[in-house]
Amino acid sequence: MRTGHANVPALAGAVRWADPPAVTSPWLRPALVSGVPDTWLCRVPIARLDQVDLPGVDTLSAAERRFVEAAKPRRAREVAAGRAALRAALRAAGWGGAGDLLPGEQGRPRLPDGFTGSITHKDGVALALAAPLRAGRTVGLDSEVVGRDRSDIARRILRPAEQDRWLATGGAWPQLLEVFSVKEAIYKALHPHVPRYIGFEEAEVHEDGTVQMHLVHGEGPFTLEATAWWESQRLISVVQARPA
Ligand SMILES: CC(C)(COP(=O)(O)OP(=O)(O)OC[C@H]1O[C@@H](n2cnc3c(N)ncnc32)[C@H](O)[C@@H]1OP(=O)(O)O)[C@@H](O)C(=O)NCCC(=O)NCCS
Repeated sequence: MRTGHANVPALAGAVRWADPPAVTSPWLRPALVSGVPDTWLCRVPIARLDQVDLPGVDTLSAAERRFVEAAKPRRAREVAAGRAALRAALRAAGWGGAGDLLPGEQGRPRLPDGFTGSITHKDGVALALAAPLRAGRTVGLDSEVVGRDRSDIARRILRPAEQDRWLATGGAWPQLLEVFSVKEAIYKALHPHVPRYIGFEEAEVHEDGTVQMHLVHGEGPFTLEATAWWESQRLISVVQARPA
């Protein structure tokens, strides 16, 4: 089954992610408006705790199924949906489909050779993005829902220039959440290149969606581009990173 970018979860269907929806935020404009024709996005609903059949579980490999069975109920549901989404996105991107997609180094999903991909699961939906690996380009995906105002994290998340810009544009929680989410996607996109914890202060997100890294160990340089869009209360952020 195929869907567009509507906020309706689809089971194991991937859509070509060539034209990200327009970003409504005046604070973060899209950098990735084009140039990602071979990237695929898939979303799978996460089973409710009272649901016996887990969406996506029938698409898992034997090793993934064992991993899911050994996990606590909530985690099992996220992993099942996340793996189903990643498998569908990778297949759409050209992967043959044989092999396991288990968590690897520092939680980063182990991906088949020749592909990049990323998983996020939040508030009932797992999403995954996948693309063939070209010129070292890697992708990171994050999703968040607005929820309660947690603006008290601003100082931990924003660099001083970002904080000034955020306050100057009204200091609203959803806009802070956009930068938080983009930074989580940065972490996921960069992890294959920089396989360590990266602090929020090590990235600076500009209003045009370009990203400047301030990596404390001097890794890089990398070129990063970010975009984020809202689907009602749900925010989705995508970052691509490549060695400069
Ligand atoms: C790892 C982290 C980004 C996950 O984000 P989250 O909002 O908690 O959870 P999400 O549902 O969006 O993402 C979970 C998925 O992230 C992926 N992930 C976890 N660690 C990862 C890593 N090191 N690299 C890439 N992907 C990773 C996994 O696929 C995971 O799903 P899975 O366990 O089912 O495979 C977050 O918990 C974290 O540690 N953040 C601090 C680091 C950071 O973001 N720094 C900012 C640098 S600019």
